[in-house]
Amino acid sequence: MRGRHILAGIGVAAVAVLALLAFAWRPAIAPIAPPAQGSFPQDLIDAGERLASIGNCIDCHTAPGGPPGAGGRAIHRKYGVFHSTNLTPDPETGIGAWSEAAFARALREGVSRDGSHLFPAFPYAHYTQLSDADIRALYAYFMTRPPVKAPNRGNTLPFPLDVRPLQALWKALLFTPGPYRPDPAHDAEWNRGAYLAEALAGCGVCHTARNLLSAEEVGHPYAGAAYEGWYATPLDISPSPRLWTEDELFAYLRNGESLPHGVALGPMRRIVSNLSRLSDDDLRAMARYLIKLNRPSGAALEPRIARGLSPAQPSTDTQRAGHKIYMEHCASCHGAPGSPPPVARSPLGLSEVLWNPYQAYNLVLTILDGIDGRDGLPGSMPGFRDKLSDDDIEALAIYLRTAYTPLPIWGLLAERIKLARNDPMSLP
Ligand code: HEC
Ligand code: HEC
Ligand code: HEC
Repeated sequence: MRGRHILAGIGVAAVAVLALLAFAWRPAIAPIAPPAQGSFPQDLIDAGERLASIGNCIDCHTAPGGPPGAGGRAIHRKYGVFHSTNLTPDPETGIGAWSEAAFARALREGVSRDGSHLFPAFPYAHYTQLSDADIRALYAYFMTRPPVKAPNRGNTLPFPLDVRPLQALWKALLFTPGPYRPDPAHDAEWNRGAYLAEALAGCGVCHTARNLLSAEEVGHPYAGAAYEGWYATPLDISPSPRLWTEDELFAYLRNGESLPHGVALGPMRRIVSNLSRLSDDDLRAMARYLIKLNRPSGAALEPRIARGLSPAQPSTDTQRAGHKIYMEHCASCHGAPGSPPPVARSPLGLSEVLWNPYQAYNLVLTILDGIDGRDGLPGSMPGFRDKLSDDDIEALAIYLRTAYTPLPIWGLLAERIKLARNDPMSLP
């Protein structure tokens, strides 16, 4: 009896596995001889180069210090670490043997040339919306890079999440393939902005929180999310006490700085550098699209601005300790509390990093590591990793938060400061 049940169980499991494999099966696309370097027109390659920059392809497909586009960059997600792949035209370890059809299928459907499903750490859910013309240009660009031999590093995921055929189920639940469809309720400029933000630049990759299945929350785009130790600020209801205008957003994305919102920090600096490849018209369209998402919290903003400009006096021991540290280490550049900074600089009290409702990550990492101005963007600040202890940073963060905002102190602040110092990638 028992044996029969076990056999039946095995039978059911086998049928389920076979059904999954049949459902998930995609054909391999035949390898090609790598196209000759001269087989693409130069203007198509140039267009592809711009797109690969704005789409962050090169960034994410380059390991720190590694050859551009040869893959190996780690992407930390809740369930494990992914590694980007080699996109140079090396026939063995890169995409040299990929036809344009194979390349287009990867972007449109998240399927590799050999027919295996790709993980959504590769943001194909955005790139599926790219136009045929843009995919063609990207292909021309990647196939004309110098080939680099660099084997893919694979991913570290627990079983069964590492089973690629299961991705077919994920797609069936959470993925809508197909090119961007213009919204007839809006004009051409708005649609251009939406295409650039959604299909190409993938702003939601960092700014949209993920659900339990690691897909971007469809219902709450741009509501903010943790990203590699930083917090990609909500873009729908900005925590900033001053509502963004379209011009301010344009200036921030164009120059990496916009008074009174301050400078781009952390990973957002790379994004601003990449966006420098967009024309003013295209960037304007993107700002116009995104600013429509930025909902005001109405009259509540006025008192917030006042508070951000005239801080409360420290009243607890911790606040007093934080105030002292501020005067010693920060006031020379940011000004004494309540007085304007000595040079034309955004008042710290209005910075989004103090007003973030969820996490102090951006404040803590900026204090620890400063701002590296070597990328040519505005803002350069020393780090205080060696000068300030975790307790100092906690007191400073509590002082700044309570002096300039009416918001509660962030939860688990002490633990998170420790993690930010030692292992920021593990911050939840
Ligand atoms: C956030 C990081 C990230 C960005 C941005 C990104 N990719 Fe990737 N890409 C990945 C990862 C990770 C993989 C591997 C996924 C896997 O192992 O299933 C991948 C895989 C691929 C593959 C499949 C390669 C293969 O050997 O199967 C192609 C093609 C590709 N990316 C092209 C692009 C292009 C073109 C862009 C820009 C439009 C881009 N990627 C942007 C992370 C990224
Ligand atoms: C690789 C992750 C990543 C991507 C992709 C990304 N951002 Fe960001 N962004 C961040 C982080 C982290 C911050 C918070 C640090 C800071 O304030 O600069 C941020 C901050 C911002 C801010 C400032 C918000 C504020 O209130 O100060 C704006 C505006 C913004 N991003 C817009 C965009 C747009 C538009 C795109 C797409 C073109 C984009 N981001 C893509 C990570 C990202
Ligand atoms: C040597 C000058 C200098 C010192 C000292 C300094 N900063 Fe900065 N800080 C800057 C500059 C420059 C920027 C870029 C912002 C700007 O120019 O508007 C900046 C930006 C910041 C930002 C990001 C604001 C935003 O959103 O743009 C924070 C937060 C910050 N500083 C906190 C501190 C704290 C806390 C201290 C003391 C521990 C400190 N800074 C010390 C020069 C300095």
